[in-house]
Amino acid sequence: MSEHIRTSQAGAVLSITINRPDKKNALTRSIYDSFAAAIRAADQDTTVSVICITGAEGAFSSGNDIQDFETHPPTVGGQSGPGGLFAALRSAEKPVVAAVNGIAVGIGTTLLLHCDLVYAAASARFRLPFVGLGLVPEGGATYLLPRLLGIRRASELLFFGDWFDAQKALSWGLVNDVFEDAELLVKVQAQADLLARQPARLLRLTKQLMKQSPNSLEERIDEEIDLIARNIPLPEAREAFLALREKRPPDFGQFET
Ligand code: COA
Repeated sequence: MSEHIRTSQAGAVLSITINRPDKKNALTRSIYDSFAAAIRAADQDTTVSVICITGAEGAFSSGNDIQDFETHPPTVGGQSGPGGLFAALRSAEKPVVAAVNGIAVGIGTTLLLHCDLVYAAASARFRLPFVGLGLVPEGGATYLLPRLLGIRRASELLFFGDWFDAQKALSWGLVNDVFEDAELLVKVQAQADLLARQPARLLRLTKQLMKQSPNSLEERIDEEIDLIARNIPLPEAREAFLALREKRPPDFGQFET
């Protein structure tokens, strides 16, 4: 495990912190690999329900380490480096929540496209400078960003590579919410705690459905109906329906994570 990846657990929430503040949390091959390993381990850990990602000391990440681009250029299909991080994020079955606590440059922004929920500090700033660096965007950003923001907005961010602030990220839909800097981590932990109280299996199924493209809308509607019918007799729905009848909040704590 790289010294530049720190993990800590509070309740059922596992936080992964990129911890290389002297380089604004730039990511090297060994940091990517430890980051990916930490995500995979948390996804397997039955005491963890939600995975949070943040950066140390006022920066989220300044992106790929510039020197590393030359010493360890990314390889197609690689399980190491940026490819390995994207693979770990994409295969995570548990919810992944990002707390963008400062600058998010390059992969510091594109990795957010693979998180389920993204919260930003009011002072966070984002930048996708790939074209101006003589590169193209990575992590599926040319596919995901136009779908998330619309082609006009994605083109603006990717073609010019200018800085944009948390309010623009919020109004364009890149982030879910913006919190005061000093409150960010507390608010994100509170959101993650709420998520951890939801029935884990159903969160997982819902995430899976959203990440897979159905062949048609009709097929997806049928798939959902089938899943609903199969889940009605199962313990989570039984507890939820009983709680409604008993006019109390449901308790899903007894079920699998
Ligand atoms: N790779 C390697 N080192 C980086 C880095 C990166 N992506 N981003 C920052 N650093 C290093 C700087 O070289 C500097 O190192 P030094 O103290 O040895 O000189 C240190 O981190 C602090 O950065 P600095 O530029 O002094 O801080 P800042 O607050 O003025 O600016 C950034 C921060 C992130 C805006 C600026 O460093 C930057 O633009 N970095 C490049 C980001 C980038 O293009 N990433 C690649 C995307 S594909």
